[in-house]
Amino acid sequence: MNDKIDIDYHIFFEQLPGVFRWPFMIIDTGLVIHYFNTRAQALFETSASLAGISIERFITNPAILQLIRQCIETRSSRSEEHSGGNAGAGVEWNITVTPLAHEKTGKMLRFFAIVIEDFTELRRLERARRDFIANISHELRTPLASVRLLAETLEDAIDTDPEQAQAFVEKIENEVYHLTALVTELLDLSRIESGQTLMNIEPVEAELLVREVMARMLPQAQRHRVQLGTEIEQGKTLVAADSKQIARVLVNLLHNAIKFTPSGGSVIIGTRPHSGDESKAQSFFVRDTGPGIPPEELPRIFERFYKVNRARSKADSRLPGSLESGGSGLGLAIARHVVEAHGGRIKAESTPGQGSTFTFTLPVTRRIPAHQQ
Ligand SMILES: Nc1ncnc2c1ncn2[C@@H]1O[C@H](COP(=O)(O)OP(=O)(O)OP(=O)(O)O)[C@@H](O)[C@H]1O
Ligand SMILES: [Mg+2]
Repeated sequence: MNDKIDIDYHIFFEQLPGVFRWPFMIIDTGLVIHYFNTRAQALFETSASLAGISIERFITNPAILQLIRQCIETRSSRSEEHSGGNAGAGVEWNITVTPLAHEKTGKMLRFFAIVIEDFTELRRLERARRDFIANISHELRTPLASVRLLAETLEDAIDTDPEQAQAFVEKIENEVYHLTALVTELLDLSRIESGQTLMNIEPVEAELLVREVMARMLPQAQRHRVQLGTEIEQGKTLVAADSKQIARVLVNLLHNAIKFTPSGGSVIIGTRPHSGDESKAQSFFVRDTGPGIPPEELPRIFERFYKVNRARSKADSRLPGSLESGGSGLGLAIARHVVEAHGGRIKAESTPGQGSTFTFTLPVTRRIPAHQQ
């Protein structure tokens, strides 16, 4: 019997495609590891050699260990998918155990190849895609159903009650307006996500950008009886930005802040050097005194279609131009993609009951202190 693992590995590598992409090990019948690749080390979160160590040290899931032992006992090859893997819930591994035979004689060796394919990320992406399609179908179907219903009612009213018919026509227009806005946002998001939207990056004055967006949103804030103010540090800062796209991010953030803050509350939009990285980055922020966002929801609000309180959002009226129009949960997803396309980061902080602060960074191209202006 060949005790040494000086056999020609590449034959096994050919038999097991993907070996270089996935964690791979060769163990003996006593479960001791003889060969491993760097992916295996990464999976087990170590940079040390795995050689000479029992695989039981790294794989603790009893079902996986049993699979390996069965293959050893029966000298057969098996491939199984296991949830939970080693690292706990949510991890999905496909484990393949294959007995190795001598290259020339075909005689069985006492070595076994183990490949662990980590499907966790793949499964997560599959779930995200399914959710996305379910969400988009729902968002499109709801207004479509109401357009159909309104059209049917309109048919009945058109001869008998022209005034009511007019009201139905307006409602249909509102729904169509909402649908068009939704489809436009979706197309924009997909263009930004796939990198098709070319950012027209130029040096832009941060303070000016903030003041312009504030002026644009002031009428909405007044209508909603929310006080709108700015917090701008002295001096002039030029950031590398596509001003139209960044204005859109600020508008989205302000729109949310005004929408979710009850009358009598206040919203601040501002800009200042990013703390800890003053020379390279500038922060932009929107702070409100609204209801805040529960901590467990915070990581999800930048996802497409994610809304914290679906029931409440659904109850919003959908008048074109009103604050409640839209509300499909795409605003923050667009904001995140635009900021990241600029090389910046966006985050949300919140204390439920007290308010939320959304902050994003942009690269600085030049700072001119107040006394040099
Ligand atoms: N300032 C805020 N205060 C409280 N909750 C917020 C705030 N901003 C966002 N949220 C929560 O995050 C969710 C996602 O926001 P996002 O802007 O992506 O969607 P939306 O405003 O519901 O719809 P859209 O922006 O497409 O019109 C909101 O539905 C809301 O639940
Ligand atoms: Mg929004």
